[in-house]
Amino acid sequence: MWNLKGKKAVITGGTKGIGRAAVLEFLNLEAEVLFTARNKDEVKIFEEELKAQGLPAKGIVSDCCLKEDQLKLCSWIKKNWGEAHILVNNAGINIRKTAADYNEEEYRKVLEVNLIAPFELSRKLYPFLKNSGNASIVNVASSAAIQDVGTGTPYAMSKSGLLQQSRSLAVEWAQEGIRVNAMSPWFTETPLTKTYLAQQEKIEPILRRTPLKRVAKAEEMAAVIAFLAMDKSSYITGQNIVADGGMSINAI
Ligand SMILES: NC(=O)c1ccc[n+]([C@@H]2O[C@H](COP(=O)([O-])OP(=O)(O)OC[C@H]3O[C@@H](n4cnc5c(N)ncnc54)[C@H](OP(=O)(O)O)[C@@H]3O)[C@@H](O)[C@H]2O)c1
Repeated sequence: MWNLKGKKAVITGGTKGIGRAAVLEFLNLEAEVLFTARNKDEVKIFEEELKAQGLPAKGIVSDCCLKEDQLKLCSWIKKNWGEAHILVNNAGINIRKTAADYNEEEYRKVLEVNLIAPFELSRKLYPFLKNSGNASIVNVASSAAIQDVGTGTPYAMSKSGLLQQSRSLAVEWAQEGIRVNAMSPWFTETPLTKTYLAQQEKIEPILRRTPLKRVAKAEEMAAVIAFLAMDKSSYITGQNIVADGGMSINAI
């Protein structure tokens, strides 16, 4: 069971960063993967790259917030798979500002992508997941869900909401054979954090606070996602695995 053989997995935000690493990890573990992102060219290029290696991957241009795109995803699953075993709600954004500087449209967008879209996709994929037997939803949250890490209040609100969404759905859907968990990365090298981590005044306090003295690689987050997705974690539901190099247990 240390693999994802026979599993059909949907991964949102699969062209870059943690999502891309998860697509590669899942394929390596023998899953079939459907990944999404908004940039058409990037979806096509990544899909062709994977297909050239003979890997069972399909990319769909889909904005996780748009109803018609969510339905497009469901139609593809219905037509091609008939069921899905895994949903990874990975797509996420941040707009770095102080609370007073946000306008309403900006903070609603952060909540829409990070909190509402995972709920809506979980609900829309529920019929496919519950029919598959052992299903698993993995929500990618953040260290910002449980403590202030200077990434802004709307992002923190969205990610802490995602943790409780995971717990409540885990209880609601346990009888249907669907486990729901979250994993929380600390700073990880991805396009999302590239500019931020390139600033000396930002990276220094991060490294000082992190016992492992480095930020994470996307592959290290993908490994945790894969564990929560596979049947080896069959007794774990409603949990949040924090992958933070020891940051949160380091008081001084
Ligand atoms: N990197 C970190 O340090 C860190 C730390 C804690 C938590 N996280 C969380 O980890 C997750 C992945 O972060 P990352 O750093 O890998 O981000 P990233 O490098 O910016 O990649 C995000 C991926 O999501 C896609 N995406 C963005 N908005 C989308 C939407 N509305 N619909 C569909 N796809 C969308 C992007 O492609 P398109 O732009 O083409 O859509 C891209 O493929 C996020 O939930 C983030 O909050 C990251």
